[in-house]
Amino acid sequence: MTSDYFPCAVFSIDFPFFFFFVLHQMRKTVRKLAKCFPTAIVSGRCRDKVYNFVKLAELYYAGSHGMDIKGPEKGSKSNKDTESVLFQPASEFLPMIDEVYKQLVETTKSTPGAKVENNKFCLSVHFRCVDEKKWSELAQQVKSVLKDYPKLRLTQGRKVLEIRPTIKWDKGKALEFLLESLGFANCTDVFPVYIGDDRTDEDAFKILRDRGQGFGILVSKFPKDTNASYSLQEPDEVMDFLRRLVEWKELSLRTQSRM
Ligand SMILES: *[C@@H]1O[C@H](CO)[C@@H](O)[C@H](O)[C@H]1NC(C)=O
Ligand SMILES: *[C@@H]1O[C@H](CO)[C@@H](O)[C@H](O)[C@H]1NC(C)=O
Repeated sequence: MTSDYFPCAVFSIDFPFFFFFVLHQMRKTVRKLAKCFPTAIVSGRCRDKVYNFVKLAELYYAGSHGMDIKGPEKGSKSNKDTESVLFQPASEFLPMIDEVYKQLVETTKSTPGAKVENNKFCLSVHFRCVDEKKWSELAQQVKSVLKDYPKLRLTQGRKVLEIRPTIKWDKGKALEFLLESLGFANCTDVFPVYIGDDRTDEDAFKILRDRGQGFGILVSKFPKDTNASYSLQEPDEVMDFLRRLVEWKELSLRTQSRM
């Protein structure tokens, strides 16, 4: 492999695997990695939340399952205007989502424990703290708001109702868009690595498999049905892998400069 042959790393950062270990030693390694290769974090969560958690200006961030992608901050760190929004495929939905958010807050007020969260490109109605007897009533309340918005889709997660635009968009599409916006769309010498532990990461693994380019790495303690090419068992192994990537790049740079 030449040193030009590995320019892209993409991580998924959804619960539970990434959150806790980014917090600790991981940040230093990821920062070094981003110096060597374009590095992106993809998450189901809202981009600002992910950024506030990771706090690395060097990275690309794709929040809301990749519906909100932003490149590394350029120029001075203090100037927020220098951040570059790359892509928001659902931006036309923003006013509608804000409107529905307000209506949901109003409508669900009468259900104690219900919590409406605005994740910018999607809304969540959490019912973890709602009395089980009230669940169907809450679902009805949410549906009654949504009946006027056919362009929004309702799905149910773990003790949460999720509302998002009906556009076809997933982490696989986000990965493709990232590669394109980095100018790698048609490059054959690019080797994207996508690391993730969530079911929603399968869309990204499948893209790499279909393109025959790079590989996906599933992080899982147990064997799982997956379209990733490799697996690592736990965050420590991921970190070790990333460290080796950095070492390999530094070594190849040193070798080059000697020639
Ligand atoms: C990549 O290739 C496709 C099909 O050959 C072409 O339509 C597209 O414009 C190319 N993209 C870039 C960025 O060169
Ligand atoms: C892997 O890809 C195949 C072919 O597209 C698909 O049928 C299968 O469901 C995928 N596996 C997972 C775990 O997503």
